[in-house]
Amino acid sequence: MKNTSAQAVHLSDYTPPAFLIDQVALTFRLHPTATRVLSKIAFRPNPAATDRRFFLHGEQLRLIGARINGAPVSPEITDTGLTCAVPDGPFTWEAEVEIAPEENTALEGLYMSNGMYCTQCEAEGFRKITFYPDRPDVMAPFDVRIEGAAPVLLSNGNPEARGEGWAEWHDPWPKPAYLFALVAGDLVSKSDVFTTASGKNVMLNIWVRPGDEDKCAYALDALKRSMVWDEQVYGREYDLDVFNIVAVDDFNMGAMENKGLNIFNSKYVLASPETATDDDFARIEAIIAHEYFHNWTGNRITCRDWFQLCLKEGLTVFRDQQFSGDMRSHAVKRIEDVLMLRARQFREDNGPLAHPVRPERYVEINNFYTATVYEKGAELIGMLKRLVGDDGYARALDLYFERHDGDAATIEDWLKVFEDATGRDLSQFKRWYSQSGTPRLTFTDDFNDGRYTLHFKQETPPTPSQPEKAPQVIPIAVGLLNPNGDEVLPTTMLEMTEAEQSFSFEGLSTRPVPSLLRGFSAPVIVQRDTTAEERAFLLAHDTDPFNKWEAGRTLAKDVLMRMVADGAAPGPAYLDALRAMAGDDALDPAFRALALRLPSEDDMAQSLFDSGITPDPLAIHAACEKLKTAVARHLSDLLPRLHDAMACPGPYAPDARNAGRRALRQAALGYLSRLDGGALAAARYAEADNMTDQLGALSCLLEIGEGAAEVAGFFRQWSADRLVMDKWFALQAGLAAPHKAASVARSLTEHPDFDWKNPNRFRAVIGALATNAAGFHDPSGASYDLVADWLIRLDAINPQTAARMSTAFETWARYDADRQALMRGALERIAARDGLSRDMGEMVGRMLG
Ligand code: ARG
Ligand code: ZN
Repeated sequence: MKNTSAQAVHLSDYTPPAFLIDQVALTFRLHPTATRVLSKIAFRPNPAATDRRFFLHGEQLRLIGARINGAPVSPEITDTGLTCAVPDGPFTWEAEVEIAPEENTALEGLYMSNGMYCTQCEAEGFRKITFYPDRPDVMAPFDVRIEGAAPVLLSNGNPEARGEGWAEWHDPWPKPAYLFALVAGDLVSKSDVFTTASGKNVMLNIWVRPGDEDKCAYALDALKRSMVWDEQVYGREYDLDVFNIVAVDDFNMGAMENKGLNIFNSKYVLASPETATDDDFARIEAIIAHEYFHNWTGNRITCRDWFQLCLKEGLTVFRDQQFSGDMRSHAVKRIEDVLMLRARQFREDNGPLAHPVRPERYVEINNFYTATVYEKGAELIGMLKRLVGDDGYARALDLYFERHDGDAATIEDWLKVFEDATGRDLSQFKRWYSQSGTPRLTFTDDFNDGRYTLHFKQETPPTPSQPEKAPQVIPIAVGLLNPNGDEVLPTTMLEMTEAEQSFSFEGLSTRPVPSLLRGFSAPVIVQRDTTAEERAFLLAHDTDPFNKWEAGRTLAKDVLMRMVADGAAPGPAYLDALRAMAGDDALDPAFRALALRLPSEDDMAQSLFDSGITPDPLAIHAACEKLKTAVARHLSDLLPRLHDAMACPGPYAPDARNAGRRALRQAALGYLSRLDGGALAAARYAEADNMTDQLGALSCLLEIGEGAAEVAGFFRQWSADRLVMDKWFALQAGLAAPHKAASVARSLTEHPDFDWKNPNRFRAVIGALATNAAGFHDPSGASYDLVADWLIRLDAINPQTAARMSTAFETWARYDADRQALMRGALERIAARDGLSRDMGEMVGRMLG
């Protein structure tokens, strides 16, 4: 692509900023089409700089006037910023610019959503607000004055003063521009006071549109629990007098950790039992925690440059995962996290978009807010913790906060604190940050004279621009079981550092059954041919909950592989094992619900491809349908009992225990619907008093091709609720039968409520179609065309969301020649467009290779 090489930024080109900032003062005179932004910035030369040039980023700004030390200047302005002659030594820069928030459809910088002003500056949106050194290693305290008619005027830090039509904010903590935020609108708040461990009172407010105030209680509670948890587990207290959260309907991502003023996609704040599902509640809890935790891992310690993004994101995801595990169930949370890692990160790592956790080159940084940076980034933290132990981890983190508070830091700084705190050499571990691709771990074993030996081999396939890989440090958690099911070796951490390495265990009376990679101790793919009997044995006896689940999972995958390859019927080993697990009341219902879920069709496609078979999405879909029916029949007597036993009497409560029961009940209902034609699901739909049950019953009906009346009724009931309507759109596009998916999705895009400029709604239709594997890969290519048409249309107004969704095509190389030609054709059609965004240009360029 013409613009992928020209404008690439490289990690190796980093140089320190030419100027540092002591103080920033901003005044906003808000107007939908002509907002004035006045800036007054105290600059001083950076003694550490090599470059003396004064350059300020700025895009789509109309400069009204600029002064240096009070005297007017005429800077030289380009598309990307300005330069100007400046005095030696410190000076004051003042500028006035005009911007048009109402015309900002990219939702980056200052924009409007439902009449409310809001901002999104990460990564490089501040340059659309005023001229500024928009890079994370330039940090400054901000004073902000907002003038506007709105009743609520918010910015970062603490409130200083306010009057009719204006408000002033002071943020004492030096911060980079990407953490700047402003909100102005007709908002109402749900509030509380939190007292920190050292006795300081903090005002907590969740700001929403009038009418939504009854949907904030859960988010507010999750916030308080997050604050307590960060004090207790990481010793981190909150550091301002107020903590504000604002819910915004039009938002490109999930949420944003702006200092003292988090801005959220309303989907991750608003919840009531009637409108939000158990999964929504769990996600709200996790994202509230994530953004709150960024106050220390992100804000107090930020990133030197955007290549270091995983420094804050990987660590903060790891922290929110720990938190959710503590709030709910560690075993279930781990399984869910691994499911998501495999579905999104392994998919990315095994395709043309593979990149290291710390990339070395980008054209548009927004394209690197990926599963690799976030989720694999979090796995690296987990591995470090496993390698140095809980105490070592705690010491390293204390040192990190002590040494780097106030810094814009790097991955080198991060690893150094672990080395200094624990005395370990992490130079080999660092490869996890620089090598892309998912390592494959294979092993064999032997048993002689009481000595059991495991022989491991690791290999990482080539990825874009990385043909060769060096061996990585792989923590392998192992347990050994006796043939009678007793554990003879409790979980032990092996540390693999070589390409091939063996580990022995002495003094065993019989040949043990190994349980490997317990707790998913490293983000690798274990390849092993073994018998269904051994998997069934582990499923029945493994003491490690993750591996118990994993044994069932691999059994299901083996069965599906054979069904796809030669039409085999599912054998009894899997069905009997599943039956035993489903009916085992000693197991957590949430765990059983996960065990009853089949591998996704996309996951099957990747596994088939990995074993040398070209996946046919329709054949995979057919096999999954057949297996679901076989499971339903095999469990036909158990399912009604399970369904009835898991009822949750009393008012709906979103806690983990009740959610787990509902999940198991829902799994049973799904299988039952295949036996009774949806009769029970229709009855459950009619009586549902919460969204989990209502949406669950509706999805059972749609999965078996029923539910037309319920779809219409759902629309009538919920057409006024934007977030619920997103579910209505997504369910229909996501569950449409393969040959109908494109036409269902197309008619949804013609629906009067398809507001394609709203990212949630766009994702609900176009994103859901892309996750309907068999429907997306319909051999006609109709879905590819529909998605490509809409990406082209969206790219013109919102490049960030369009580019992100182009990953629908990242798997093209897995498929047969006809599908490859169609998918590449769709990408080429996008690539050929005039005026393609930099975001989309980079994505399609990387996917086409
Ligand atoms: N830092 C935010 C989070 O992880 C993500 C914001 C990313 N936004 C963007 N436009 N790239 O919580
Ligand atoms: Zn984050």
